Amino acid sequence: MQAGEFIEGLRRDFLLTTDDLKKIAEDFHGEMRRGLAGGRSSLKMLPSHIDCATGGESGDFLAIDLGGTNLRVLQVNLCGRGKARIERVRKFRIPESATHGRGEDLFDFIAKSIGVFTKKTGAVRRMGFTFSFPFEQDGAASGRLIGWTKGFSATGVVGRDVAALLRDAFHRNSVDKIEIAALMNDAVGTLVAGSYTDRRCDIAAIFGTGTNACYRERAAGIGKLKKSPADEGGHMIVNIEWGNFDRLPLNRYDLALDAETINPKCQIFEKMISGMYLKKIAAKIIEDMILQKIIFGGRIPARLADDFGTGDMSAIELDRAKGLPKTRSILRRLGAANSSTDERKAIRDVCNVVSGRAARASAAALFAVVTWIDPGLADRHTLAMDGTLFEKYPKFKGRVSAALKDLDPNKSSNIRMIHAKDGSGIGAAIAAAVAAKKSSNLFCDMSIRGTR
Ligand code: BGC
Repeated sequence: MQAGEFIEGLRRDFLLTTDDLKKIAEDFHGEMRRGLAGGRSSLKMLPSHIDCATGGESGDFLAIDLGGTNLRVLQVNLCGRGKARIERVRKFRIPESATHGRGEDLFDFIAKSIGVFTKKTGAVRRMGFTFSFPFEQDGAASGRLIGWTKGFSATGVVGRDVAALLRDAFHRNSVDKIEIAALMNDAVGTLVAGSYTDRRCDIAAIFGTGTNACYRERAAGIGKLKKSPADEGGHMIVNIEWGNFDRLPLNRYDLALDAETINPKCQIFEKMISGMYLKKIAAKIIEDMILQKIIFGGRIPARLADDFGTGDMSAIELDRAKGLPKTRSILRRLGAANSSTDERKAIRDVCNVVSGRAARASAAALFAVVTWIDPGLADRHTLAMDGTLFEKYPKFKGRVSAALKDLDPNKSSNIRMIHAKDGSGIGAAIAAAVAAKKSSNLFCDMSIRGTR
């Protein structure tokens, strides 16, 4: 078989027509409905007990953001009027031993990093904690981990309250006087941050190592809430955990990839669209082309499976120069010393097909969430987006917009995507401010009641 014929077949395997996208969005609604009611669903629809920001929150707060590869610790100054400033930020690379070892070690690592950071920050002690995994919450400052994603596997954490685990680690490591005022998912943090600056912002999505989204829901619409909607304040953000959505047309590469992961049959949507997996799908396809002796004379480059990254995919897609020199040097690094221009073009096509499907599938899910809130797309909605795929992958945003247009040619202009850079960290600080205000109001209420 020739490369051209292979790529044509691949395009067919990865094609998502507009009808497919509509079907995905429709199925997504069904899963949202069941998830909110507490029924069986691939969408966990987790109540966050945190609402969007008003823009008026103010003060100095600490924030930590535990996501994929790094822990970020930030000191944030909220100026009110929708303005926030990151005063200091430091990234700590999470060691493998912490992500795959004992949970205690992971939390000790977090506590120590915060200890190092706060040596310089002094008085700021109220903290928002962004934890980029699925967890169940009864209130805004605690949450039990449901299961790890993105390749994490630290033991002794699933089923436990991660805020309590961090507090224990603070004690073990003599990190004093830090109060975890709010705990939230990164998508939730991003929406809080987006709504701080833009009152039309009611959805956030992350397209990074992992993927997820959340939106603002009426408390009355969340059937599985234990407290009455009024006690829950009328509205709250729901963490969809859309990475686990599974009503999707999968092809042989998706199935092969899923079978090799540590969480087979879970996070199916994430495995189709997020940074951690796109490179693996692309590497699988390239390997298949090689095994079929379509390229590289049947020899698989030694470092293809382990070293090929999403950054490489971006660079290859951007490689428009004659002879694709950038692609050539990436292939050399992976162990393919000699490649022809046609072979390099075929590799670029593979990247294009894989990332193109990811963008279209992402658009279908985003469309589902916006039309859940506003079925006729009558109002304008701002979507706060973050993650390297959204920020850095060439044409990702444009392809998502184009697919949204396919889904609703007349009204898709009501959907505005903004890049909420550092949203989850800033959002954590804002949520900590909201919690601080609530506890001081509670204190006032109690002291007023006490004097009566
Ligand atoms: C996690 C989500 C998270 C997303 C983006 C997924 O793997 O399950 O909780 O929001 O990654 O970081």
